[in-house]
Amino acid sequence: MQLPAGDLVGRHVLLGLSGGVACYKGADLARELVKAGATVQAVMTESACRFIGPATLQALTGRPVFTSQWDPRQPNGMAHIDLTRSADAVLVAPASADFLARLAQGRADELLSLLCLARPRERVPLLVAPAMNREMWSHPATQRNVAQLRADGTVVLGPAEGEQACGETGDGRMLEPAELRDELVGWLQPKTLAGRRVLVTAGPTFEAIDPVRGITNLSSGKMGFAVARAAAEAGAEVTLVAGPVALGTPRGVRRIDVASAEQMLAAVLPLARTHGVFVATAAVADWRPVEVAAQKIKKDGSGEAPVLRMAENPDILATVARLPEGERPYCVGFAAESHDIVRHAREKRLRKGVPLIVANDGPAAFGSDHNALVLVDAAGEQALPAGDKRVLARLLVAEIARRLAAA
Ligand code: C5P
Repeated sequence: MQLPAGDLVGRHVLLGLSGGVACYKGADLARELVKAGATVQAVMTESACRFIGPATLQALTGRPVFTSQWDPRQPNGMAHIDLTRSADAVLVAPASADFLARLAQGRADELLSLLCLARPRERVPLLVAPAMNREMWSHPATQRNVAQLRADGTVVLGPAEGEQACGETGDGRMLEPAELRDELVGWLQPKTLAGRRVLVTAGPTFEAIDPVRGITNLSSGKMGFAVARAAAEAGAEVTLVAGPVALGTPRGVRRIDVASAEQMLAAVLPLARTHGVFVATAAVADWRPVEVAAQKIKKDGSGEAPVLRMAENPDILATVARLPEGERPYCVGFAAESHDIVRHAREKRLRKGVPLIVANDGPAAFGSDHNALVLVDAAGEQALPAGDKRVLARLLVAEIARRLAAA
């Protein structure tokens, strides 16, 4: 069985646009949401329609846009009720200063604020992405409205700081469409790790030979970064110790960059004592050169290659798993194997003394966006369906949460 790849497959999003230049980014956001698998119903205020046409949103979402509570297309005349009952979330992007003021007051004289008021609050979260000039954003009236909205349970995303359409620079830029999509995905995940702290290692390590050379491997870090992201989405406080990789830090995750296995161990060990869960996804180099040359090793013309003496690296996972009870987090290891995957994973679980090992096909998984995982614990094995690493990471996090809750 193959899991669907999109982060929003099966989700229905009501996307609201209020007036602002950032409406063009709202159109891009609609596209991002659809690409992630969501069905999107756009609702635009009258001022939003002055910035971009409803036809653009209709084409991007594949659905006619609603712009008025008096729309005769709704047979019962109750667009404000019908549109929100099927939604998983209402996301207003851009949310103008005026729109935030209307929400804060509970106004209901146009469709978008009306449906925000009429939505089933327990089930349908309201997220707003403010976009306005920096003076408008920092004005006490706007700040008062935002504080009120937060107190009412509205999620305020951003704004970011930067160049503004008016030519000024400061706070008030709407977050980028991809950031808003990721925020929404995060908000829709069950908070199974709320109140927990999760430590993750990811990526390869780099063992220096001299100032310009070293030994490393092809791990991309994607699986570990996906685990960190999924744990953060599940409500955990996450620390990610990363080897050298070219990946952006997932939102809300604290990241510590290291190079060698010894640096990774030095970063992990004190943190392991203050985290309840440790997920070791890093592909730590097994050996390192005993001596690191201070200067680049040169060819001397003799045709003789230098001989590297190697030492074994510390096993970070096994070291953490040996911490005394009370200081030891719940440890999860990964096993990348090329054959006899489950048998090797079982042996590794016992050798490292950890409750759970996640086995995967190393050569196939390295660098790829896809993976197939088998969970190996004392009770036996459980295969997760093959799929995108981000989707698999969510399943793994749900499994870890289930085991923690049962313990
Ligand atoms: O021994 P092997 O490298 O196959 O074990 C893989 C698991 O152990 C992974 O979870 C990896 O992150 C962890 N590991 C480690 N430190 C090492 C080697 C592996 O934490 N030196």
